[in-house]
Amino acid sequence: MNLKEQVGYKAVDFVKDGMVVGLGTGSTVFYFIHALAKKVKEGLNVEMVSTSIQSIELAESLGMKVKNLEEVDRIDICIDGVDEIDKDFNAIKGGGAALFREKIVADIAEHVVWIYDESKDVEKLGAFNLPVEILPFAYNHTIRKMEELGLKPVLRYKDDKVLVTDNGNFIVDLHLGYGFDIKSVENKLASVVGLVEHGLFLNTCKHCIKGTPDGPIIIENPNK
Ligand code: A5P
Repeated sequence: MNLKEQVGYKAVDFVKDGMVVGLGTGSTVFYFIHALAKKVKEGLNVEMVSTSIQSIELAESLGMKVKNLEEVDRIDICIDGVDEIDKDFNAIKGGGAALFREKIVADIAEHVVWIYDESKDVEKLGAFNLPVEILPFAYNHTIRKMEELGLKPVLRYKDDKVLVTDNGNFIVDLHLGYGFDIKSVENKLASVVGLVEHGLFLNTCKHCIKGTPDGPIIIENPNK
């Protein structure tokens, strides 16, 4: 098993009968969804919601039914990946452009579990550019505002076209650099009109499952 597969399969241990499960997005969650589908075939009874169309399609292709968020009254657990995570359990997410729905699901969920391979573990955030979802309406002015704030925004493209998220919005990646001041960036982003959500997930998870060559390590966040 590769490290992503290892943690994806380990994460199903957190899922219990009767739970409403939030499916994350990405290449690590890919394995979790496969592992969950296996358990469901064996008789595990859960409901699920998703953070992206990509994960809905994967879950449905494996025979599972995914509900809309509006159809559930709670989310018991959310299993998702990260792009970077620091020692204070602060993460950058949104490399897969799903950050808005990921943040909603994480916010509703009673229990958030991040799964990742050890390459995502960083001393400080910032080697990975910070994704931000913005409205297409007046997007050039929103980007200019972020430039004026020194946030170094770069509009994200896919296949030579501006990338459009599941919500019909755009993504800009902020080139902030390693060790950027999290609080200062958060405050600056709060002042930007036209911004839908950003990919800073601060102290969000209760548990992490980190994949290492010696096997998965479960880490508990004492401040959650
Ligand atoms: C999606 O927008 C992201 O937040 C992903 O959860 C994150 O990029 C982790 O993806 P991988 O598991 O593919 O590295």
